[in-house]
Parts: sequence; structure tokens; C-alpha cells
Amino acid sequence: MTNYNSMKKIILIMFFSFFIISNFNFVSFGQTSGQVPGASSGLNSDADLWRYIREGNKGNTQLGNELSAVMIQSEGDNWRSVRNGPLSRYGAYGIFGIIILLAWYYSYKGRIKISKGWSGETITRFKAIERFSHWLMAGSFIILALTGLNLLYGKFILLPILGPENFSTITIAGKYAHNFLSFAFMLGLGMSFVCWVSHNIPSKLDIEWLRQGGGLFDDSHPPARKFNAGQKIIFWAVMLGGFSISLSGWALMFPFETNMMSKTFGLLNMVGFNLSTDITTLQEQQLQQVWHAIVGLVLIVMIIAHIYIGSLGMQGAFDAMNSGEVDRNWAKEHHGLWVEEEDQKTKNADKKGNINQPAE
Ligand code: HEM
Repeated sequence: MTNYNSMKKIILIMFFSFFIISNFNFVSFGQTSGQVPGASSGLNSDADLWRYIREGNKGNTQLGNELSAVMIQSEGDNWRSVRNGPLSRYGAYGIFGIIILLAWYYSYKGRIKISKGWSGETITRFKAIERFSHWLMAGSFIILALTGLNLLYGKFILLPILGPENFSTITIAGKYAHNFLSFAFMLGLGMSFVCWVSHNIPSKLDIEWLRQGGGLFDDSHPPARKFNAGQKIIFWAVMLGGFSISLSGWALMFPFETNMMSKTFGLLNMVGFNLSTDITTLQEQQLQQVWHAIVGLVLIVMIIAHIYIGSLGMQGAFDAMNSGEVDRNWAKEHHGLWVEEEDQKTKNADKKGNINQPAE
């Protein structure tokens, strides 16, 4: 009987020992890969739990900030791979592509000359306020473009040349320049819009200008008023792109305060898109950054072509934005209808002046 009781005790002790050992948390002594920390999930990886976390679901936090309740934000990986992958790659293709295209065009056509040569007589093309607006917008844009390109490509191009310390100094200074000059750009953009919008309304004449390729591949001069169709395209690209890049730049400068992306997606859904408007404030920032860079790169590519044609590419063009006075022959060849309108205005003003002159 005594033997039977002690046997019962031994079996019970063995059973409880086995129970305790099998539930003991060895992980806290030495976690190996694939195992989950903490006692609740046992020794094996809890796929559902990690999937839930990997999908960016929120847990609880006492930090009072919804972003810190998300343990893994997987969209961050997507954002980084888009930024460092296709965005940077296609941006570089675009910039090198336009430079190669312009170099080819220059070797094929040379500088576009004034066919009839300099007339020696000038006509006022842009008033001081127009030139001020242009250079405020253009000067700030060029610095914004260079400092922005440094943020995207600097670590691949400048860092190996300058070394970490110089590169860091330049990049920090560039970041401040980028932030503050954005306001100058917005002002210049708004002023240029007011100065030129009335001359940039599309008209039937533009179709003809485009049909003739703007005379870029032959020696023709399709008729144009103050701005031809090519310039109107540049104008609207700069105005709409400039406005959009200003909004996304604003969102990046004052982070987590706007929800323009989800609002834009909502509007796009009204015209047939199917985009999720349920995006977190962090995703909002990532999307704003990608959009900011895309619009910036597209504008940079267009502006390289604009700078070429406004300086090296065409004789007599730069004067328009320098002194504001252009050669009459240049004006007649490229903006013949505008010259006629200006001459008519002068005639009308002269007539008025004569009428108001007291009789002698
Ligand atoms: C060194 C740089 C630049 C040069 C030499 C330059 C030159 C010129 C010239 C000569 C014109 C007048 C063309 C005419 O008389 O018909 C012009 C117009 C204009 N520029 Fe620039 N520009 C430069 C940079 C920029 C930049 C960076 C922007 C915008 C961000 C810009 C936007 C415009 C716009 C919107 C117009 C009016 C439409 C047009 O002519 O295409 N420019 N520029």
C-alpha cells in the first residue's frame, strides 16, 4: 500500500515537472532566429501576429502619437525602393536624354539665326516688371533644381568626390536654400502668371504652329502672336507644375499637417479611378515626396530645353529677358502678328495724341 502511494506521488511529480518544463519560456534565455520574443506565442513564430504587424496595423501606445503605435510601416520600404529605383533612374534618363537631344539638334541645325540679319531697330518685348518676375522665378527655380537634384543624386555623384564632411556642409546649406527660396519661387510664379496669362490662352493659330513643328526643322516661320504654341506649352507646364510642386513642397516642409493626397485621390475616384483614400499621415508624406520629385524632374527636363532655346539656341532671343528690347527683324520672324499688333497700338496712340494736341 505504502509502495503504491509513493508510486502515485512519483507519477504526479513527474507529470507536473513535464508540464512545467514544456511550458517554460526558453526564448528569454537565448532567442534564435524565427522565434518570437515573449511568452504568449510559445517557441514558434506566430505568422498571423507578424503578418498583422507587417501589414502596418496599429497597436497601443502611451506616447500620444498615432505613428508610434505602428511597429512596422511596410509602405516605407515601397517608398524607398520607388525613390531609389525607377524615380531616380527615369529622372536621370530624362536629364541626360534632353541634353543629348539638344546637343544633336545643335549639331544638326546650329544656332537659329535671324534670317534677314540684325535690323538695328528694336521693339520693347518685356517691361521691367515682366523681366523681374521671370528672373525671380527662374533664379530661384535653378537653385531649387540644383539643391533638389543633390538630395536625390548627391550621395552617388558628389559624396565620392567631396568626401563626407564637405558633402554634408553643402547638403545642409542646400536644404536651407531649398526651403527658403521656395517662397521666392512661389512669388515669381504668381507674378509671371498675372503678367502673361492673357497671352497664353490657346488659339487655332497654335495648331498651325505645331503642325509646322514651329519651323524648328526647316527655315519657315509659322505665324505667332506674343507667345507661340511651344512657349504656351512651357508656360502652362511651369504654372501648373509650379503650383503643384509648391503644394507638395508645402506638405513636406510642414509634415503631418495636410491630407492633400487623400483629398486628391477622392477627387480622382469621382472620375473613375479606384484609389484608396484611407491613407495614414506617414503614407501621405511618402506620396507627397514621390510626387514632388516627379514634377520637379519633369520641369527640370523641360526647362533645360527652354534655357537652350532662350540663350545658345537662338540668336537675338536672350535680349528679350535681358534688356527687354529685341531686334525688329527677330520679332517679325518669330512673333510677326505680335509686331503688327504693337505697331497698330503705337499708331492708335499717336492718332489720339494728335487729336489731343491743341491746334496751333
Ligand atoms: C538661364 C535661364 C533662363 C533663360 C536664359 C531664359 C530665357 C528666357 C527668354 C529669353 C524668354 C523670352 C522668350 C521670348 O521672348 O519669347 C523666356 C521666357 C520664359 N521663361 Fe525663361 N529663361 C531661363 C530660365 C527659366 C526658368 C528656370 C523658368 C521657369 C521655372 C522660365 C520660365 C519662362 C517662362 C514661363 C517664359 C514665358 C514663356 C516662354 O517664353 O516660354 N525661364 N525665358
